[in-house]
This record gives sequence, C-alpha cells and structure tokens, in this order.
Amino acid sequence: MPSIALLHASQLVTLAGPPRARRGKELSELGIISDGAFVAAGGKIIHVGKSTEIEKLCDGETEVIDARGCIVLPGFVDAHTHLVFAGNRLDDFEARARGETYEQIAKRGGGIQTTVRATRAASEDELCALAKRRASWFLRNGTTMVEAKSGYGLTLEDELKILRVIQRVGKETPLETVPTFLGAHAVPAEFREDRAGYISLIIEEMLPRIARERLAEYCDIFCERDYFDVEDVRRILTAAKQHELKLRMHVDQLTNGGGAKLAAELGATTADHLEQTAADGISALAKANIQPVLLPGSVYALGSKKYPDARAMIDAGLAVILATDFNPGSSPSPSMPMMLSLAVTQMRMSPAEAVAAATVNAAASLNRVDEIGSLEVGKLANFAICDCEDYRELAYWFGISLVRDVFVRGERV
Ligand code: NIG
Ligand code: FE
Repeated sequence: MPSIALLHASQLVTLAGPPRARRGKELSELGIISDGAFVAAGGKIIHVGKSTEIEKLCDGETEVIDARGCIVLPGFVDAHTHLVFAGNRLDDFEARARGETYEQIAKRGGGIQTTVRATRAASEDELCALAKRRASWFLRNGTTMVEAKSGYGLTLEDELKILRVIQRVGKETPLETVPTFLGAHAVPAEFREDRAGYISLIIEEMLPRIARERLAEYCDIFCERDYFDVEDVRRILTAAKQHELKLRMHVDQLTNGGGAKLAAELGATTADHLEQTAADGISALAKANIQPVLLPGSVYALGSKKYPDARAMIDAGLAVILATDFNPGSSPSPSMPMMLSLAVTQMRMSPAEAVAAATVNAAASLNRVDEIGSLEVGKLANFAICDCEDYRELAYWFGISLVRDVFVRGERV
C-alpha cells in the first residue's frame, strides 16, 4: 500500500480526543505534538507521534513530506456554504456601500432573487464548472470538506440541478461535499402572491423527490421576516423529518424571530447565524444540545457590527462551529483562516477554540467525526500544511493565506 510520512511539523495540531463535538474547556485542547509526525497508508492515518519515533517506521517505499518550520492541522470542515450559484452580486455590493441595506435591496427584487434568476438560466454543466473553480478556492485555503446548500433554484428542476452539481463536485474534485436542500431559501417571484402554493410545492413535490433520489442529507430553511415565518418553518421541517432528512436552520440573522427556540423545538442538528439570538434562545439550544454555526463572514461583509455572542454560547456549554457561509450576497469568502481571524478579533474566541470550531466540531455536525476533523489513527489523511510555527498565527495574520499544501486522503491536491 502506498504510504506517506509527514515529519517534523513544528506543531502537529491533532485535535485528538473523543469522536464527538467538543465543548467548554475541551475546545481549547488541541492535542499539539511539537516536532510531530504521522504515517498514512491507503488514505488513512496509521501512526501518529513524535518525529523521532515515526521516522523509524519509514522504509524505502515511504514518501516523506518534510514539514519543518510549518504547522500541520486537519483540513478545515466548512459546515455552511452556498457553493452552487451563477452570476454575482456586485451591484448589491456597491449599493450597500452607498448605504442601502441587505433587506432594502431584497425588497426591490435584488438580493437572493438576482442569484435565482442567474442560476435558473445556467445549465448543469455551466454551474458545475463554476462550482469546481470555487472548490479549488476552498482547497487552496485549507478546506477539505464543505456542506453545500441548494436554494438558488426554487423550482423542482432547478433545485435538483443544483443538488446534482453538489454531488458531482464531491465526486469529480478532491473537495468532499455534504448536500443540504434549501428550497425554503426565499419565496420565488412567481409565487409572490401565493406563498402557500410554494410551501405546498416544497412539501408535496420537492422533498419526496429529493429524498427518493438521496440528493440531500439535511434540509435547511431561512427563518426570517419576509422569508419564512415560524409556522411555515414548522410545516416544512416536520415534512423534511418524515423523509428522514436531518435539519440545519438559518435563524435569527437579521431579526430575532424566535428561531433558536424553534430549532430547539424541532430537534435540529444545527442552528446557524444567531446574530440576534438573546439569552433565552441560547439556553434553549443548550437544553436541546444543538450546535450553533457562527458565520462571522456574513456579519463582516454586510457591514454589520452585531456578531453572534460566541462567549455566551461557549459559557452555556454549546459545541460551537465556525463556517464561512460562502455565498454571493452576504459572505463572498471561502476562507476559513479569515473566519478564524474574525472569531478572535470580533467574537472574543481564543485561537484554540476557533480551530476546534472549524474542524472537529464541524465534522461532528455533519455526522463525519469518525472519519475526519482530527489527525488520529483510523481517520482520513485530510490535512493542511501552513507556513507558520504556531497555530495561533492562522488567526493572527489576516488577508494572506499561510496554507502551503493540502492533502485529501493522503494525496496532495
Ligand atoms: O446565509 N440568509 C440567507 N442566506 C444567505 C444569504 C444568501 C444570499 O444573500 O444570496 C446567508 O446569509
Ligand atoms: Fe447561509
């Protein structure tokens, strides 16, 4: 079996520990091995330790990777992206600089609807080419797995088209993908006078078909004023559960609509955004053991100052996750290192907490923690080699990528 040995990492950030999401003090335990090393064969890690021990296990057949002067950590797991869309939102971007808000732009037919028009007009192959280019951006920034949502099609055929592209990116590029159906992202223009009709379309046609074709593992919704209210969400997600989809939910992003409590009531896997969530919402999430997905890129890019209260969530014992929310409107960034920077400077997370939130905790939320999220025996050799000697530098230097090399299943990408 072809094997590789990674030797002499100034810090090997293993995140070794129980195969589950980490909370409280555990978030700071990164399992760092100085002058660390590992061997991988057949795409999986088979030994981890100090370089002096691991060197002895190498023979003439082993491909040696020298990581002197570098840190090595598990590939980032980005648990919230909108990877597949056509077009861009440069006009919205410029309008916001002139002072228009995200909500005002949406009300005059811009925002998500702009991207829906462009995505509907694109063929599956065109969308796939665009998504593959973005997959290379994620990999270049150290991300080896993304959750990816549909939600810019909003017809049965266009949602299926996006979900097939998500599947193809996972098969045809080294970036692994986990698909989420987000038909309830917005009410499309043709249903503006008939939202009940659109909700029926989701429940009666989209969900059964997507479940039957196994095109999604999760179902998501945008619970927000002018999008989907608490009653709509309850109906759609109750139906999703009947099709054995697990739930991720956009809640309390622009207004506090009781979304965190609703996520708790419905037993979602994650509650995402939470910028406007208050103490009662946080305690509801804690009681129901739901993982918050914090998306500082969208706060930053929308020019808001209101980041989610990460400290209160960590203090409440929540297994926080950091993700990019990569999308053309509110967060056009595929960079997890940028999210680490925002987490530390704007949300007062420690660099260690941020790393755990971006790797093992994200993997746990995607039901992949037995395979990825840490560098331990038995797990996939998905890792990033970064040009720095202390893991805290990942969050400290910003606006540049320190990621030097990325490996997926033991192969350089
Ligand atoms: O997570 N909030 C809803 N969805 C995205 C934004 C999508 C868009 O603006 O295109 C988000 O921020
Ligand atoms: Fe999002």
